[in-house]
Amino acid sequence: MKDVVLGLVGVGRIGVMHASNIAALNGELNGQGINVELRLTDVAEDHARKVSAGLGAQFLPSVEALIASGVDGLVIATGTGTHPELIRAGVDAGIPVFCEKPVAMNVADSLPVLEHIRAHNGVVQIGHQRRFDAGYLEARRAYQAGELGWIHSLRAVTCDMAPPPVEFLATSGGLFRDCSVHDFDILRWLTGREIVEVYAKGSNNGDPAIGEVGDVDTALALITFDDGTVGTVSATRYNGAGHDVRLEIQGSKRSVMVGLDDKTAMESAEAGIAFPSGEPHKTFAERFDQAYRSEMAAFVELVLGQRENPCTPEDAVAASRVADAAQESLASGVPVRVALVGAKAS
Ligand SMILES: NC(=O)c1ccc[n+]([C@@H]2O[C@H](COP(=O)([O-])OP(=O)(O)OC[C@H]3O[C@@H](n4cnc5c(N)ncnc54)[C@H](O)[C@@H]3O)[C@@H](O)[C@H]2O)c1
Repeated sequence: MKDVVLGLVGVGRIGVMHASNIAALNGELNGQGINVELRLTDVAEDHARKVSAGLGAQFLPSVEALIASGVDGLVIATGTGTHPELIRAGVDAGIPVFCEKPVAMNVADSLPVLEHIRAHNGVVQIGHQRRFDAGYLEARRAYQAGELGWIHSLRAVTCDMAPPPVEFLATSGGLFRDCSVHDFDILRWLTGREIVEVYAKGSNNGDPAIGEVGDVDTALALITFDDGTVGTVSATRYNGAGHDVRLEIQGSKRSVMVGLDDKTAMESAEAGIAFPSGEPHKTFAERFDQAYRSEMAAFVELVLGQRENPCTPEDAVAASRVADAAQESLASGVPVRVALVGAKAS
């Protein structure tokens, strides 16, 4: 039996989910001769002690103690501002790191982290879980096999049902950096092309507190790829119909849509059409349940040296560069060239 000890830091919204997925993974991998042990920490100690007791995981009082306990890999699920120092801590300890997206608040803050990882031959997987979603994988396969022909239009949509706490929004870097960065990543990954220009607009018709912390509740970006192909990326915090994440790819031969199934949070306006008739997803955790599980299984394989890194920090920073451009365009009201972004640290 091979033993893999994962240390997880941060058991907030997403960290609790990763922790329980790791605990469940242990059962799934036991049959393959792999035993996964979870240890965790969080500055919110009482909460973290409860989570660890519930999952049969060991609680450690600090990140330093967690790393010193001899973990084989570090999972970072704390707020974005803490990612750089925690990635460095994992890399300095010589262990593979999984870090939730993004690498840092913006590209300028990410570049020294990339340098540190390279200088120390660090192995860091970033949490763009859509790369493990069955629908996105099939769309990528179909496009790359030439089945869609050439793409004439791309429309990516990410809709939350309700906003996260405004305290989170105040530190999230904005809707494009927090939400649409997933779309920017998946569009690069799927097409193999770079997004070179972004023109963004946003609106605030929901809770005024979102505007007061400098964010928008809804936004749309017109994106242009390096071959001139155009697409749109939109996001909102107020989609009452359900959590709705989709990607339409229309090609010269065929068109496919990721996220078009019985749970799609949309009704037909045509008479007599019952589809989709299922209960829509309510949260990102439900929508990407399979993808988050596969992502963590991939990290265990990465720790064991059994696979290539499925989402490198360089890839994640390239997506963040597009998100930074979108935030800049939103603020300035003019189109922004992606290559020009990233000079100013926060
Ligand atoms: N991939 C996705 O779909 C997805 C979804 C949601 C959030 N995220 C990312 O996950 C990260 C966390 O988001 P969240 O919504 O779970 O945040 P959160 O605020 O709910 O949770 C963060 C947790 O980290 C703890 N923490 C903060 N600093 C710490 C430190 N130095 N040491 C130990 N614990 C610390 C906090 O006490 C809290 O429990 C963000 O970077 C966000 O961008 C990714």
